[in-house]
Amino acid sequence: MSADAQKRAAAEFALKMVINGATVGLGTGSTANYFTEAAAAKVKREKLDTKFVPTSQTTYALAQKLGMNLVTIEQAPFLDATVDGCDEFDSSFRLIKGGGGALHREKIVASSSKFMITICDASKQVETLGAFPLPVEVSKYGVNATSWKIERALVHLGYKDPKMSIRVNAQGKPFITESGNPIIDIKLGKIDDAEKLDGYLNNTPGVIETGFFIGICGVVIMGTDKGVVELTRA
Ligand code: A5P
Repeated sequence: MSADAQKRAAAEFALKMVINGATVGLGTGSTANYFTEAAAAKVKREKLDTKFVPTSQTTYALAQKLGMNLVTIEQAPFLDATVDGCDEFDSSFRLIKGGGGALHREKIVASSSKFMITICDASKQVETLGAFPLPVEVSKYGVNATSWKIERALVHLGYKDPKMSIRVNAQGKPFITESGNPIIDIKLGKIDDAEKLDGYLNNTPGVIETGFFIGICGVVIMGTDKGVVELTRA
């Protein structure tokens, strides 16, 4: 089964979260798009009264085109569930997210939900986080100053050669998130101390959001060659 088929299968499996009367967060990215499409079809088919909170303009545009009942996080600050993709997850259900740049809103919505369900293909499961560069959203003001402070913290934590880069868009200009901030991607290879590193980053002036989702996700629904696997955090 291709990665795309695995993503689609995981998205369809997560449809059990779309029930009458629920408020559901819609993630961002290719896997989340499959979920948005499938959820819209289910709501129509079963005539459900389900509200959705999109985590980005891209998801908003797709969901609106599909005629979904959309509300903002301000209107619905407590959600029943959020279904979103991830870039990596480990056996402790720690995630790296933000490959698409929507980490700030994704984290606000996911952490406001009773359940966060991650949907993904099998390539996202890792033993140790870090092969995927960790996105860190930072203030535009003082971006280089924030960058050297992060680098100093990484060296202090024992990372020998952290590769840091300010994300650029297709035009080669700094990528700016919907919250108006640049992203620094940090390639570490192996992250053995995700909680500690997250703490250091969050204590660095200028850091707005890290791509670590720790203690937020309770269920992973993963498409594999052999079918969909559902993993639940103990
Ligand atoms: C968006 O900012 C990200 O957090 C995505 O959820 C993540 O990159 C997964 O994307 P795909 O579903 O496209 O792999």
